[in-house]
Amino acid sequence: MASPRPRIWVSQPLFDDIVDQLAAHCDVDAVREVTVHAPEAVAAALREADGALVTLNERIGAAELAQAPKLRAVANVGVGYNNLDIAALDAAGVIATNTPDVLTETTADLGFALLMAAARRITESERWLREGRWRQWSFSTMLGADVHGSTLGILGMGRIGQAIARRGHHGFGMEVLYHNRSRLPEDVERGVGASYVEFDALLARSDHLVLVLPYSKDSHHIIDAAALARMKPTATLVNIARGGLVDELALADALAGGRLAAAGLDVYEGEPEVRPELLALRNVVLTPHIGSASLATRRAMVQLAVDNLLAALGLGDNAGRPANPVTAKKATGAITGAGKAATGKR
Ligand code: GLV
Repeated sequence: MASPRPRIWVSQPLFDDIVDQLAAHCDVDAVREVTVHAPEAVAAALREADGALVTLNERIGAAELAQAPKLRAVANVGVGYNNLDIAALDAAGVIATNTPDVLTETTADLGFALLMAAARRITESERWLREGRWRQWSFSTMLGADVHGSTLGILGMGRIGQAIARRGHHGFGMEVLYHNRSRLPEDVERGVGASYVEFDALLARSDHLVLVLPYSKDSHHIIDAAALARMKPTATLVNIARGGLVDELALADALAGGRLAAAGLDVYEGEPEVRPELLALRNVVLTPHIGSASLATRRAMVQLAVDNLLAALGLGDNAGRPANPVTAKKATGAITGAGKAATGKR
């Protein structure tokens, strides 16, 4: 008897022409409208699913997995995957994948755009102009901080951190300092023009500090009141990684009190909620988590996630070889009764 086609849950509208590729191998249950899924709704959607294509907005942990006996693979459309409980996925024998590389340069562009906008007061200037205040112009209107020739600090030196370093070093003649869990090999440091320093030195020496490190229990509020106090009062802070890296109340306080010049934020601890303390400030540029949001990159991310999902389920051209597993389990056979019994985990 032919084995049943795997069932796939697609949690949000993505790009139909790409998601439709799944239909060659699978029965697809695709959510057609942008939806905020409560945890119970995620669990209900996964109950009959063999695979899932999800975004950073859907959390999958032990509670959801306990109700998803058939689930074998979860493809996250995003490079960060703190929405997934990797230990629980591993315990359940479910493969999870992410979408690195394809978004590196686009996200680095956004990091630099926020840095420039915050340091040169671009959005504040635009609001001022639109409010009809140009007649109040003086020679000291909207004085900001130079970007070229200044010191760029990067916390977290993975692919995106390195792409930002290249922009700073080669494009803007900046001195580039970084701190990372592990130091990069010397030839890589030379290639991106960055020097390793300890965390405290990074805080103290940076004119502009960009956060690009993964969020975890260990990095929670790594930029807190004490860290902010070590930064120059003329400095700019940019966060394009995860909101939980920054104590936002301490940041708002520092910005309001002139202990930090400016900030550019693309991510927030309680997103999509943004703290009123931040919204009230003129010296912070706020964007709604658009780091990877160019058309070409978002399409590439969905394509990679679809390829990963098919491969993880043992289907398609790369069956059994998903390019980007983030779980210990990296591949499974085709979804058949025998295949499932062989995993012995559910
Ligand atoms: C975006 O934040 C991502 O992790 O892809």
